[in-house]
Formats: sequence, structure tokens, C-alpha cells
Amino acid sequence: MTAEFDPGFLFGVSTSSYQIEGAASEDGRGPSIWDTFAATPGAVADGDTGAVAADHYHRYRDDVALMDGLGVGAYRFSIAWPRIQPDGSGRIEQRGLDFYRRLIDALLDRGIEPWPTLYHWDLPQPLQDAGGWPARDTAYRFAEYAAVVHEALSDRATRWTTLNEPWSSAFLGHATGRHAPGVRDGAAAVHAAHHLMLAHGLAAEAMPESLLGISLNLSHVSPASDAEIDLDAFRRIDGMQNRIFLDPLLRGSYPEDVVADLAAVTSFDHVQDGDLKTIAAPLDFLGVNYYSPPIVRGGQPPKPSAYPGSETVGSVDGGRPRTDIGWEVDPKGLQELLLRLGRDHPGVPLYVTENGAAYDEPVHDAARISYLDGHLRACASAIERGVALRGYFLWSLMDNFEWSYGYRQRFGIVHIDYATQRRTLKDSARWYADLIRNRRL
Ligand code: FCB
Repeated sequence: MTAEFDPGFLFGVSTSSYQIEGAASEDGRGPSIWDTFAATPGAVADGDTGAVAADHYHRYRDDVALMDGLGVGAYRFSIAWPRIQPDGSGRIEQRGLDFYRRLIDALLDRGIEPWPTLYHWDLPQPLQDAGGWPARDTAYRFAEYAAVVHEALSDRATRWTTLNEPWSSAFLGHATGRHAPGVRDGAAAVHAAHHLMLAHGLAAEAMPESLLGISLNLSHVSPASDAEIDLDAFRRIDGMQNRIFLDPLLRGSYPEDVVADLAAVTSFDHVQDGDLKTIAAPLDFLGVNYYSPPIVRGGQPPKPSAYPGSETVGSVDGGRPRTDIGWEVDPKGLQELLLRLGRDHPGVPLYVTENGAAYDEPVHDAARISYLDGHLRACASAIERGVALRGYFLWSLMDNFEWSYGYRQRFGIVHIDYATQRRTLKDSARWYADLIRNRRL
């Protein structure tokens, strides 16, 4: 069956600063929590770090030319806070701002819309030393940083994303410790989640004339069976993955069941009067990052979990094909998720801000094309059913530093030879260019 996308639908590609830029100590950039974490023995596969990455800091013009060749309408990238405020507050590093100004100008010259994200996980290390996201003050520092960037670049970029995946920052960073800063403390994770959302709300106040959104990694969670214990597991994980962010941001309240599930973890006295009103500032768009939907089962032996308070929930093998990183492929889950968002939060324009697959097929990446085809068809059918989905950003433009997996997992539609930094288009890049041109699958 053909799937079509109207001329206004935005096709883009996504990356993030620490994963591609390299130049980790150039032009006054300070250290981030990811520099520190990657330098910790055993934290990242093969001891990889983002020190050089895809050298985008020096090759951004070539990368913008590649994007132009593909015909993408927008480029979603992130700004490295430690390039702008190496100390995490106060002093502004002009050379950092100048880099992003040059990048944005290169995009605008080629008619590509810049789609900047203020925070994709590279917190300045001095702010971590002062308590990091579990500390309320970090939210105020973020608003200060947002105002600086806004002042410098809002004449060139109109649509801004505050945070990428606060779930990952909070829960992978502070519950499982698989991400920087590598903390394992359920209460710290829940407090971090709140302060990240508060940071988003305070940044919205600091950037009044911009169109503002946030990207959440939402999941279409399903229960392993209709048994009560599995339905309860479903409710809990849906709560901790989706509703703990969606409800404060879009309804101005925490879901009561989630607060109850977390009773043994935190008393929620970190939430102050007025916070939820700040957090629920009107959103101009909601970004959805979607990879793989979990199937959950309750009553398992307790084990450390990304979901504090739900340590007895386990996940079940859905028998679906898996990508190289081990994530199950299920495009239908994306369709269901988009339909649900359209139902639960009507009127909020949606963008898929990340979707893609890790396969180590250097050039002829048929598996990636099949993954993308399935997920884009899911988008098209959600739109057909009335969902306000306005665009799709493919993760990722190029192979990059895949966090704790290092360079082993390749998500790019452009292959990077890390020894030479040579860029080669994979078949999926040509396939995406065709789709953008024809607007049809
Ligand atoms: C998302 C991250 C992104 C990338 C993809 C594979 O969770 O936002 O940086 O690592 O996963």
C-alpha cells in the first residue's frame, strides 16, 4: 500500500553534540558529565569517549552539504552547554556561541531549518559537582543558560527544544547509572526528573518569543498478559515512562498512582508550590523519540531497575526481530503511541524527533531501510487517522558515539570511517532522499 506525506510534512535528521562534535577541549569548552563518565573504567564499551567522535566541530560544513544533498528540510542538533558556559554558570564563552552561529548560518544558506535542542545530556561538570539534576539549583542555572543562547541565536532559529529525553537523564543517569553521571539512587532519579521539568518550564519563561517544545522518549508499553499482576506492571511502567512527564507538562499535575507507587522512594517534598504551573507552560510542539516498545510482567524477583519503586517488574521477550543493539522492532507500537497522544492530548502538534535503528551494515543497509519504511508507514497511518503529526526526524544523520555502547552501535544513514573520518552514504540515505523528493512510500 502507498503511504503519502503532504508537502507541509517536515522531514529531518537528528544528531546531538557529544555524540558527533569531538573537539572536546577546543575553543574554551569545559568538561561535561559525559567526559567524566566516559573516562571512568568500564562505563563505556571499549573505553570509547566523545573526544573526537565524528569531528563534526571541524567538518560541519561538509555535513551540512551532505544534508542538502539528501534534501532534508530540517536539522535537529543540540547545543553543548559546556561550550557556552564552561563553568556551568556566569561566564559566557563567545567562541562556543560563534560555532553554533556558523552552523546555523550554513544551514540557513542551504534552506535547511535549524532545530536546536538546548540539552542533550552534556551537563557542565561544575554543575554536577554542585549536585547536578537532583539539586533544584541546576534548573535555575539551565534557565540562565537558555536566556544566553536565546539572546545570541533566536534571530536565526525560531523553533527550540529545551530538553532531549529527560527520562534518560533522570533514570538512566541516576537509577541504573548506565548513563552519566552514573548514580544509583531512586530518590535522586525522581528528584532529577522533577528538576529537569522545572528547568524546561523556567527556560520557557526565559525564551518568550520562541516556539518551544520538548522531546520525550515515550513508549507504547504493553502487559505480558491480562493477569492482574501484569496489568499492574503495565500501569506502573506506563506511569514511570510516559505519564510522569506527560501529565506535569501537559496537565500541570503528577499522576496520583505514580506518586503512590513512589511512596517508599520519595515523599515528593522536593515539589514546591508553583512548580507545576511553571512546568505546564504552553507547548508549541511535543517531540516523540521512539525506538522499541517494552512488554512487561509483574511479580518478578526484585532487581535494580530504571523504574524506582517497581523493581519487581520485568520485561518479556516479544519474539519480534531485534536490531544490533538488541531492541525489538515494532512499528505498530509507534502508531499506537501517536494515536494515544492524539487522543489524550489533542491540539498539541507532534513531531517524531528521533527514530532509527542500529545495524552494522556499512553501505548496503537493507535492514535499516526496512525498519524506517515500517515506522514511516506507521506515521502515515496515524496522520490518516487524524493525529497532528507534523514531521519526522531520522536518528541519525551519521554514525556516532552511542553513549555507553561507544562506537560499536551504528545508527547513521551516513557511514563514518572513524580512522579517516570519511563519510559514505549508505543505501538508507539514498532511500530517505527519494522519500523526501517523492513524499511517498
Ligand atoms: C536516544 C538518544 C539518542 C540516541 C538514540 C539511539 O535515546 O536520545 O542520543 O542515543 O537513543
